[in-house]
Amino acid sequence: MKELIDNLYATQQLEPTEFKALIEGRTPELAEYLFDKANQIKTKHYSNDIYIRGLIEFTNYCKNDCYYCGIRKSNTNAQRYRLTEEEILNCCETGYALGFRTFVLQGGEDLYFSDDKLVHIIASIKKQYSDCAITLSIGERSYESYLAFYNAGAERYLLRHETADEEHYKKLHPQNLTLSNRKACLFDLKQIGFQIGCGFMVGSPFQTVDNLVEDLVFIKELQPHMVGIGPFIPHHETPFANEAGGSLELTLFMLGLIRLMVPEVLLPSTTALGTIDPLGREQGILAGANVVMPNLSPISVRNKYMLYDNKICTGDEAAECRFCMQKRMENIGYQVVVSRGDHFSLQ
Ligand code: SAM
Ligand code: FES
Repeated sequence: MKELIDNLYATQQLEPTEFKALIEGRTPELAEYLFDKANQIKTKHYSNDIYIRGLIEFTNYCKNDCYYCGIRKSNTNAQRYRLTEEEILNCCETGYALGFRTFVLQGGEDLYFSDDKLVHIIASIKKQYSDCAITLSIGERSYESYLAFYNAGAERYLLRHETADEEHYKKLHPQNLTLSNRKACLFDLKQIGFQIGCGFMVGSPFQTVDNLVEDLVFIKELQPHMVGIGPFIPHHETPFANEAGGSLELTLFMLGLIRLMVPEVLLPSTTALGTIDPLGREQGILAGANVVMPNLSPISVRNKYMLYDNKICTGDEAAECRFCMQKRMENIGYQVVVSRGDHFSLQ
């Protein structure tokens, strides 16, 4: 098995059957070996730097009904909110003072935020913070909308593909949502010039090892700048309320494989990892991740953006999270840097 990891380290690729063998045959010892290699390649490109992104969850309204998600439209118990442009700019102001140079605007698919409104928000942020990068994470829109956002100054876009398997996709989403459209959006975004991020949940209901291998093959084909993965965590007011969550151990192993397969990728250690284990985010970094995304949303809305149960940091001020994260990273020998944190190829 170690030869397979050596081979992946040397060539950045493996056959699907080899990925499958690695995932199925993983042991704690093999995982240690993988993480060691993953960190070698990560520090070669990014040394011990950890990039921070300020996450602004600006709306939890959503027209979609994904079976796993706590802010799905059928969850009538969710308390809905939208931030105003002024509130979003206030988040940026706080974030800038705290050393953030990337703002991630994330939300449900909320058509109240028309293209015009979003273009205005993007342009206003860019005008005041021209040295910052703007990442959007607002789901599926048309090519024209994406182009308008790009022209307004947004440079990065996160759109997890969720699963690269058609059948699995159908088990996680209602019929009106399709994997083909999700993938088409990612290719559109890439073509426009965005730095793009795809990703998936580890341990989502009905996921098989073959599905995980398909995810890896898709990532290799897409060659994204970022990959966001985290464990699936059930939310009590969704159809998957009683499903098992994804494990820390498998999520870490997948992070290690992704680091070796796309060595320069920007790889967040997610809030979901920190939710299933108090040291989950630290372990994610030690498995190969190099990005963290502390929350910049106003404290008044924090506990309303509940994608899954028990989400951490819902009661903490932005500054608390920022410095907590710095300490956490320093404890494991890494340093948070004040930087846009662009992909290696763009630095
Ligand atoms: N609406 C945008 C979209 O669809 O890309 C962005 C917001 S969406 C809530 C962000 C991500 O949260 C999804 O891509 C999904 O992978 C993740 N997510 C949703 N529910 C989750 C859950 N129960 N456990 C873990 N992650 C979840
Ligand atoms: Fe939010 Fe530690 S990152 S409290």
